[in-house]
Amino acid sequence: MLDTELDILLSELATESRCRTIPAQGRPDMTDLCSNDYLGLGQRSEEWRDEFLCRFPDASMTSSASRLLSRRQYHHALLEDKLEELYRRPALVFNSGYHANVGCIGALNLPSTLFVADKLIHASAIDGLRTCGANFIRFRHNDTEHLERIIATKGSDFRHIVIIVESVYSMDGDLAPLDALIKLKRKDDRIVLYVDEAHGVGVFGEHGLGLCEQTNCIKDINLIVGTAGKALASMGAYTICSTSMKRWLLNSARPFIFSTALPPACCAWTLLMLEKMTTMHTEREHLQHLWQWLGNRLNRPAYSQIIPYLTGDAAKALTLADHLHTAGLDVLPIRRPTVPPGGERLRISLNALLTESDLKPFITILNSYQ
Ligand SMILES: Cc1ncc(COP(=O)(O)O)c(C=O)c1O
Repeated sequence: MLDTELDILLSELATESRCRTIPAQGRPDMTDLCSNDYLGLGQRSEEWRDEFLCRFPDASMTSSASRLLSRRQYHHALLEDKLEELYRRPALVFNSGYHANVGCIGALNLPSTLFVADKLIHASAIDGLRTCGANFIRFRHNDTEHLERIIATKGSDFRHIVIIVESVYSMDGDLAPLDALIKLKRKDDRIVLYVDEAHGVGVFGEHGLGLCEQTNCIKDINLIVGTAGKALASMGAYTICSTSMKRWLLNSARPFIFSTALPPACCAWTLLMLEKMTTMHTEREHLQHLWQWLGNRLNRPAYSQIIPYLTGDAAKALTLADHLHTAGLDVLPIRRPTVPPGGERLRISLNALLTESDLKPFITILNSYQ
């Protein structure tokens, strides 16, 4: 019975070109324009295998319990210490960005809290808001005047107002107006700034700590979420926050409390990648050059390593992605519900190992498609 109904739902999705499948294993000769391996650390990971094994010979593949119940936490602590040294604020490691967003938002949902979130925040933050039953309102993407109006008209009954943004938007690649948000916070001490740096880490800032580092505002943001599964070529996430908030999170963030902790080996690998990342200035400069260069050639603004190419229709996005795939260019189509209807696109995601010549065939195909 249930399977029959599921098959009907799946065939409806297929009719709308929205039925997802797990992509096949990529060919090694493909040009990677879809992963989040922004610095190329993932593609180069073999280079650090010996260093990893030599430095962390006893890092176990399992922590065998959740963070609060496991005694195998030496490598988690090493990673948190390094993050604290870099950000100069307390850090807490989570199992993934998804866990971090769901957990932190739930933990911040105290009585009399209003969350005001950018329209384009990631699904993990939306799930966080929904699962904890938060009071939340969305403001128009990057529109701080709209945000201010919402706070003025709907915020008066609340003691805490948590503003959630992404430093670099995962599907559009544009940047949060951090300066304007900080100005807003200075005018209203009920405001708590929550910045998801999933796509900023590795790419922005002198040490790759994210857009908050680049704009010199780490200390002004109440809670930063960084992820390790993207530029850091690992798995996991971390939050940067105050001492009280760290203590509160580990007492109340449910995904932190009720899920087996990351394997120590994973934390050790993240630590190694973090150390590499902080010194990759040349890669960051090259990446920035590449996105500006590609943006100019595609005649569209490019604010970061993520460049959207809108097709406005799922079938067109699929066909174009297939066409590019045949030409050896790995770009994946993005459809509903990841983006709103009409926002269907290719999500071009650049990495520091690419060169201008790698991108030239891509430009030729896209320009001929218009
Ligand atoms: C903006 C943003 N936040 C959070 C996440 C979730 O991070 P993770 O993949 O570590 O669960 C993602 C993943 O795509 C993301 O794009």
